[in-house]
Amino acid sequence: MAEKQKRRRFLGAAGAAIIAGGAAERALAQAPGRKGIKIVGISCSPRKGKTTAAAVNICLEAARQVAPNVETELIDLAGMSIPGSVAAGVPLEPGRKDDFPQLVPKLADANVAGIIVGSPVYFANMSALCKAFLDRCIAFRKKGFALSNKAAGAVAVGGARNGGQELTVRSIQTALMCQEMIVVAKNLGRRVAEVALLVARARD
Ligand SMILES: Cc1cc2nc3c(=O)[nH]c(=O)nc-3n(C[C@H](O)[C@H](O)[C@H](O)COP(=O)(O)O)c2cc1C
Repeated sequence: MAEKQKRRRFLGAAGAAIIAGGAAERALAQAPGRKGIKIVGISCSPRKGKTTAAAVNICLEAARQVAPNVETELIDLAGMSIPGSVAAGVPLEPGRKDDFPQLVPKLADANVAGIIVGSPVYFANMSALCKAFLDRCIAFRKKGFALSNKAAGAVAVGGARNGGQELTVRSIQTALMCQEMIVVAKNLGRRVAEVALLVARARD
């Protein structure tokens, strides 16, 4: 119980740190005439609505604080069936459900300017669900790098201090860089929204 409360306090403090600062960037982001952008957060824990989803939500909250024209959506992969082997061309086993195709238009949407991927730390790396999701994202490379120049962020939640969070974040970032995404690390949600708005403005 005490441990759970400590975890909540930590997440809250992280959120506060993410939200603080950046007044100049916020003013820039709110420049008149700029249409809205969307930031999508993806929680890759098999446990629905748990710590990883909470951490991604905090990032999305921080992203919304950047400007009123930043819209967000959380996609919780828990409960979804995302077979990774399909990425390698292995046919879907008969009767097996595949939930990845429904995510493709959501993420490739031109209005989605930033994506935040969150994973629990499993043996010092990302969850199998996260890896399967990132492997399936090869579909975007095949669709002419449909995620290219979107801002990207990674967040990792571990049960232990020094439990492998850094490597997990780095592994996710590396996979996202393979998609030509622009990886941002500091003050995650805020930076994803700021970079996404700048890229969107440059395209206008
Ligand atoms: C198979 C497995 C391996 C884990 N390995 C690690 C680890 O290497 N380092 C760590 O800090 N926590 C580890 N954990 C703990 C989870 O990262 C931690 O409970 C996390 O909060 C789970 O995220 P969730 O609440 O979103 O499901 C592991 C948990 C499981 C189930």
